[in-house]
Amino acid sequence: MTESESGTTPVESGTENSESGVRELSRRQLLAAGPALALAPGLSTLLLSSEAAGGVAPTDGKIPGYWSPTDPNRPPIDGPKGQDLWRRADKVMPSYAMFLTRSARYAGYNVLPGFIAEAEGCRVKDVDGRSYIDFTCSAGPNLLGYRHPEIEAAARAQANAGDLMPMFSPAMIDFCERLLQWTDGFDWALPLKRGSDATELAMRVARAATGHPHILMFKDSYHGSNREQSLLYEGTPTDALEHLSRLPWNDVAALDDFKSARGKQVAAILMSPLDQPGGNHPTRSASPEFIAAINRFRKRTGAAVILDDVRAGFRLHPKGSHKAMGLVPDMLCLGKALGNGHASAALIGTAALRGGAERILYSSTYLFSAVCCHAAIATLDVYERDNAFATMQRAGERLMAGMQKAANEYDQHLSFSGPATHPTMFYDNDPDSALMERFCHETARRGVLFHPRIWSFMSAAHDDACIDEAIDIIGTSFAAMADK
Ligand SMILES: Cc1ncc(COP(=O)(O)O)c(C=O)c1O
Repeated sequence: MTESESGTTPVESGTENSESGVRELSRRQLLAAGPALALAPGLSTLLLSSEAAGGVAPTDGKIPGYWSPTDPNRPPIDGPKGQDLWRRADKVMPSYAMFLTRSARYAGYNVLPGFIAEAEGCRVKDVDGRSYIDFTCSAGPNLLGYRHPEIEAAARAQANAGDLMPMFSPAMIDFCERLLQWTDGFDWALPLKRGSDATELAMRVARAATGHPHILMFKDSYHGSNREQSLLYEGTPTDALEHLSRLPWNDVAALDDFKSARGKQVAAILMSPLDQPGGNHPTRSASPEFIAAINRFRKRTGAAVILDDVRAGFRLHPKGSHKAMGLVPDMLCLGKALGNGHASAALIGTAALRGGAERILYSSTYLFSAVCCHAAIATLDVYERDNAFATMQRAGERLMAGMQKAANEYDQHLSFSGPATHPTMFYDNDPDSALMERFCHETARRGVLFHPRIWSFMSAAHDDACIDEAIDIIGTSFAAMADK
């Protein structure tokens, strides 16, 4: 369907819609945005400049003009079934810019397989039957291994009794109790479905509790797909972002300056345990001085500290990332790994914020799914019983050491940062991630999945044998890179 058939009129230049205040981008501006994406691949840069263009990944040599692939001639990873799915998707799903890390826009053109049909342990199989050792862990949820038998048995047992039923299920209460037993210092828990639910609800609780509107976040931090937490502001009226400020990470002075100017209005600081802009930017921890500044800020202003542990959770410290940071948050947001692939998230908070939480109307149809609660309880049980954290750490260290050795051997200049359980790697002097795309393409061709623009994740299913197999493939891929 063309734009005129669909009833939308393309605007010729960027305009301020005086009624809504929303800035509209012209088709020409969208076209012009393409190459900029390749030059500035940091997550926020990409998202802030990405436009809501329809369409899905190109597979047949037709590359939309608004996208600038680093290598348009790269042979596809997808086999015939995968390519056919892209063609079908192109017709029915406006997903080309949507869906973030899985979209061709962010994962790169023909870098990774588009469609995965099966997963078990640390391995996945695409729709054409090709098998891969997976270090994306589906962007975090695969903590203990895909289709972990104990997690699946717990979920199945509840499914056999019923999942979504009238009123509360006992599973919700079991889940809240288990969360509060898992880590100390918190007084209440709410079972949720998405990490975005947790961060959004946390902001609302802080606002209700303090009576203040403003939320402080940090530059490049993605906290979910809802309007304030996202870095992708297309489709969001600008006044919806009025009560939001983003400061540079680890910048004590910026925090102090903000405090003196507007500190009294702040309901909460919403932060992640790590600064992870993506692209060719390293992962950075919070410095002790930064943590101290956050604590000073909260003491003087009464702002709550919300730790968004949705991404890093269970991979920085077995009892929550705050334990590794030396921070005592007022609320902790969990998701992703919490249900080992089942849609489970949670917000947990301190007694002081219970009043704020009790004033809020928050509900959603599938919050009451009992299956996810049991999957999450089983995940916590197995994670703690098996010391999965130590297993992931060992696996990550083995992978990083092997990878570094192979990189040295083939003169590949990569930077590694972040924890071994959740490492970030990128090529030095690779501003558009072209080398990283090539590397991920070379490893995918041989059966290992890394994402070219975001960090990797380890799971407890990454045993020595699969790490060593992956290191061999990585070495062969570096050799292919060194060849040209
Ligand atoms: C740090 C962080 N917070 C929140 C979210 C949102 O979680 P979800 O995608 O489950 O809504 C994400 C998702 O990637 C995330 O990385």
